[in-house]
Amino acid sequence: MTDKLSQAIDQLSRDQAAAEHADLVVQIKEHNRLYYSEDSPFISDAAYDQLFQRLRNLEDSFPELSGPLSPTQKVGVTPSGGFKKVPHARPMLSLDNAFNDEEVREFVLRVRRFLGLEESETVGLIAEPKIDGLSASLRYENGVFVLGATRGDGQVGEDITANLRTLKEVPIRLGGGDIPKVMEIRGEIYMSREAFFRLNQAQEMAGKPPFANPRNAAAGSTRQLDTSVTASRPLSFFAYAWGEVEGDLGASHIAVLERMKEWGFSVNPLICKCNTVEEALDKYRLIEAQRASLDYDIDGFVYKVDRLDWQERLGMVSRAPRWAIAHKFPAEQAETMLLDIVVQVGRTGALTPVAKLEPVTVGGVVVSNATLHNEDEIARKDIRIGDSVVVQRAGDVIPQVVRVIEDKRLADAKPYEFPDTCPVCDSHAVREVLDAETGQLEAKRRCTGGLICPAQAVERLRHFVSRNAFDIDGLGHKQILAFWEEGLIKSPADIFRLEALNRSGEVDLATREGWGALSVDNMFDAINQRRKMELERFIYALGVPHIGRANARLLAKSYRSLGDLMAAGAAAFTRDGLVYEDMLNIDGIGIKVADAFIDFLGEPHNRQVIEDLAAEVEVLDFVPAETSSPIADLTLVFTGTLEKMTRNEAKARAEALGAKVSGSVSAKTDLVIAGPGAGSKVKKAQELGIRVIDEEAWIALIENA
Ligand code: IVH
Repeated sequence: MTDKLSQAIDQLSRDQAAAEHADLVVQIKEHNRLYYSEDSPFISDAAYDQLFQRLRNLEDSFPELSGPLSPTQKVGVTPSGGFKKVPHARPMLSLDNAFNDEEVREFVLRVRRFLGLEESETVGLIAEPKIDGLSASLRYENGVFVLGATRGDGQVGEDITANLRTLKEVPIRLGGGDIPKVMEIRGEIYMSREAFFRLNQAQEMAGKPPFANPRNAAAGSTRQLDTSVTASRPLSFFAYAWGEVEGDLGASHIAVLERMKEWGFSVNPLICKCNTVEEALDKYRLIEAQRASLDYDIDGFVYKVDRLDWQERLGMVSRAPRWAIAHKFPAEQAETMLLDIVVQVGRTGALTPVAKLEPVTVGGVVVSNATLHNEDEIARKDIRIGDSVVVQRAGDVIPQVVRVIEDKRLADAKPYEFPDTCPVCDSHAVREVLDAETGQLEAKRRCTGGLICPAQAVERLRHFVSRNAFDIDGLGHKQILAFWEEGLIKSPADIFRLEALNRSGEVDLATREGWGALSVDNMFDAINQRRKMELERFIYALGVPHIGRANARLLAKSYRSLGDLMAAGAAAFTRDGLVYEDMLNIDGIGIKVADAFIDFLGEPHNRQVIEDLAAEVEVLDFVPAETSSPIADLTLVFTGTLEKMTRNEAKARAEALGAKVSGSVSAKTDLVIAGPGAGSKVKKAQELGIRVIDEEAWIALIENA
């Protein structure tokens, strides 16, 4: 990621980030559905990756935005009907993306840090092309092909055994010797370019629509309910990974690939082993240069840690292994005309300039808006209305204006003047002084109108009804604005009072333009369905600064009921004592988040909002997920030096088993794992009567989990 692009996210307010995040989640889910269930992607892979990367970047910068429902935590979508569903014995993972050399180097550094490797130790990498097809899992029992499945959502795929049997490169019985009792081969089904052109010619001759690209053709051909159609399609398969294995595999990834060849699979001939990251990056450039001349589409490169014991230790995080990364080919830029600059106002009053562009295709997507971040950015790049500009979509999904093409500037173009009043309510818009000494100003100019500014009030209400909050269908942006303007909905609780108001005859929604009795009833149904609400969504819906979905969940998980949560917030107001300390001890909740929450509750009008709502809505207590792990739901503290694993590795294992890891010992701690050199934390644990174990006991505890 270049400085410029990371700066872009830095400059988003939390609210803008949350709004953008919610929007991205909706978009990505729809693209997932189109891609996985319909085989008819609407945008290019590069464009999808950019959306996805932007989501990741947002979640990296605003961790509270991530959560179990985010697409970053899931692979693909739940499979559609038609084929039998099959759970994968091991999840089918996806890959994290790197968009430049630096991110690949960082990947290797992360691996080193995680494993605690000495500098002298070599991290051997497998470098290979990323095939642009669809992944499949082939299960062999005693050397015989018994099940073939699509990836689906990564956990459950579709049974396409019959179709896969028709592929030449899917052996029905494995050749060679030394075959594990159970061996799941993972790889990519693809169509060569030559086969794709032939198929499209045939399609055209038969008066059928051609396929857009080889990947779509491969996907469409694989997911045929009529097996004879699949059999007639020229599909190929490259093996590159594996799922469940019962039997010994050996010590390195490359050695397993060699064995796969002996068993009868095609393994990509360009796969090679590299001893340094620079060598791997050289290979990337070499293959990138050959890309056009290959007979199959590739959309990047993949690097994998070769040693299998290291792969095992590195494990995975959410949806992707820590031991592999995809290095995508660079994104595109395009030139277009900047037609206008409009200034939008967010939920917190922040003014954001947006460039309106002459529509242009960049990376397969038509772009007509680009973010300009803030007024300093416009001034720095000297962007003027009417300029020819270079726009780019790279990693970041929101298109960026990279630069102005000054040679093409019109003689009468004037420097852009940023407004000092709010474009929505006309109140003054000011920049706060961040540092009195240097006079440094906040990047964003903000409207001072507060709740009299419709943009802010309405944005807060929109957040409240948005999909990850109360998720009220039928109360969209337009309706919220209209109801707000008429004074029918001023605060969230008013939403739940609307039906009574309508029934009393004071207003009659059904007679309004755009409404009818049915749509009014449907809206009230949607509202009434939300009269019971999970605590975490309730917290998220309040729109407290810094409390996105992930933090809302952490608070819900820790306090379990609205009553306890409110009581804790009130008791922590003085910022001393155990209640405050316990809040800070929730893993993932820092001072910033805790203080934001306590400050929010400290405002009487916010408490009023919650009380009014609680009179209308039953807030359900948090119910912890059931799990069989011996450390599930426990709060652990690691202290001292661990010798068999790094602190990161221990933390990752603990979290994967459902435990929380905290940095300090408090009354909420359940277990302390102490290595040599541990000091005050052990003492404190002993004082509080908390169990303390050593590393050996810790390993014994997790080994059987
Ligand atoms: S390895 C656990 N290697 O890319 C590792 N994946 O964006 C799993 N893909 O889901 C994947 N070529 O469908 C791997 N040489 C390659 C690949 C490859 C294409 C696909 C695969 C994966 C997706 C992730």
